Amino acid sequence: MIVKNYGCAVFGVNATIVTVETDIGKGSNFFLVGLPDSAVKESHQRVGAAIKNVGLHMPRGREITVNLAPADIRKEGTAYDLPIALGIIGASGQMATDRFAELVIMGELSLDGEVRPIKGALPIALEARKQGFKGIVVPSANAREAAIVQGLDVYGVEHIRQVVDLLDGRADLAPTQVDIRAEFDQRSRVHPVDLSDVKGQEHIKRAFEIAAAGGHNLLLIGPPGAGKTMMAKRLPTILPPLNIEEALETTKIHSVAGRLRQDDALLSARPFRSPHHTISDIALVGGGSFPQPGEISLAHNGVLFLDELPEFKRTVLEVMRQPLEDRVVTISRAKFTVEYPASFMLVAAMNPCPCGYYNHPDRECTCAPGLVQKYLGKVSGPLLDRIDIHVEVTPVAFGELAGERVSEKSADIRERVVRARRIQEERYAGERIHCNARMGPQQLRTICRIDATGQALLQKAMERLGLSARAYDRILKVARTIADLASSAEIRTEHLAEAIQYRSLDREGWAG
Ligand SMILES: Nc1ncnc2c1ncn2[C@@H]1O[C@H](COP(=O)(O)OP(=O)(O)O)[C@@H](O)[C@H]1O
Ligand SMILES: [Mg+2]
Ligand SMILES: [Zn+2]
Repeated sequence: MIVKNYGCAVFGVNATIVTVETDIGKGSNFFLVGLPDSAVKESHQRVGAAIKNVGLHMPRGREITVNLAPADIRKEGTAYDLPIALGIIGASGQMATDRFAELVIMGELSLDGEVRPIKGALPIALEARKQGFKGIVVPSANAREAAIVQGLDVYGVEHIRQVVDLLDGRADLAPTQVDIRAEFDQRSRVHPVDLSDVKGQEHIKRAFEIAAAGGHNLLLIGPPGAGKTMMAKRLPTILPPLNIEEALETTKIHSVAGRLRQDDALLSARPFRSPHHTISDIALVGGGSFPQPGEISLAHNGVLFLDELPEFKRTVLEVMRQPLEDRVVTISRAKFTVEYPASFMLVAAMNPCPCGYYNHPDRECTCAPGLVQKYLGKVSGPLLDRIDIHVEVTPVAFGELAGERVSEKSADIRERVVRARRIQEERYAGERIHCNARMGPQQLRTICRIDATGQALLQKAMERLGLSARAYDRILKVARTIADLASSAEIRTEHLAEAIQYRSLDREGWAG
């Protein structure tokens, strides 16, 4: 007898239904066909053991053929154990198969029949609903992420026995319920940290506000202990709240990467990712023979923080260039291509030189001449080119650290950020961008017009500070955001003047 049940393959952040056809005939072999990778082949062992351990048996002296269709899509990992096991149990007449048609079933099996977590339960649930399935069966660890898909019964299971009992009608299992609205509201409010934890540093906070308002990438340069890391961690607290579509997009990526915790359903806070500088190219941008999203995709709709930027390998920084431009990572293999969204704000921090004290108000830099230049050279060029705002951070004086002065709360700053974003959304309605940082050269010419006084100021600054030509466009974009924060339709001279300050590294005098 041939029976069919259904599993699901995950590609990028999308999924495709896979039909598991099981045929039991004459002979004594076990065949698994349909382009399975070695993990799927090994599932034979786990499936056999798990079936025995729930008191059922592999059909003895018969030939078992399992076909995973369509054959031309890649099927990775161990998550097909459960549908394969059920197919064999069903095809050998040891359980009812009439509910096979209405369920998508995925899960890895341990030898004793326990169902282990899988990757991509959320995209699987979305596809199952789209294809008209009534429900899905997934490991209980993945049930909450799948259950944010409404209109689909999500059964979280811990043991294959539960699935057999459910399908046989011997036991009932309550579908996992998640109230998306409640999830979303409750969590988006709590932030364990706040920008008001940082004493003083008003001009850095101002730079943060501008960066957040316009979606500009940001570089912090300053000596050790200046508070760069502390401040960067607090950037997500002033970004506009995630909307539900963004939350879903980000959760999908984390689901595919298997990074959601069991009690997470929907990620409703913007991600903050800070990979260590020893990270590999693949871990940062994604990839591998069975591609997985990298840190830049896990940071989608949030912040990617590269602390100690010059310590990162040059190749790592280079592979980021294309995604920074395209907001998506494309991973190509001989037979297929996957894409992961990667729209993030880049925040980088670095010391100004190897010893850390170049340009410090009261400490000497001990670096050999030329070393400072070389240090900056490691990050300059293509990557720095994509960072709109550079700020120099100096440590606050002890008096200020100990002082009682209360700083502004993140929530208040965020309100201004949200207002400025609203102006941008109107400006870019019907276009493919949402914020000033994404402006193309064409848009820049029409949106960032400045008057003769502004022109003159910019010209003078370029000459006096020795600003490069590439700094020019950056200054205009940032000035546009500053004007938006001031609800000003025009870019005024004071907006330009402020924007010029955020180009530290372009100055000829720097590290000269
Ligand atoms: N402005 C500040 N307000 C409050 N604490 C600060 C401030 N600046 C530095 N600190 C303290 O100093 C520590 C070191 O700062 P850190 O962010 O690690 O510096 P950096 O990354 O620039 O080397 C912080 O964890 C914090 O306790
Ligand atoms: Mg630090
Ligand atoms: Zn130095």
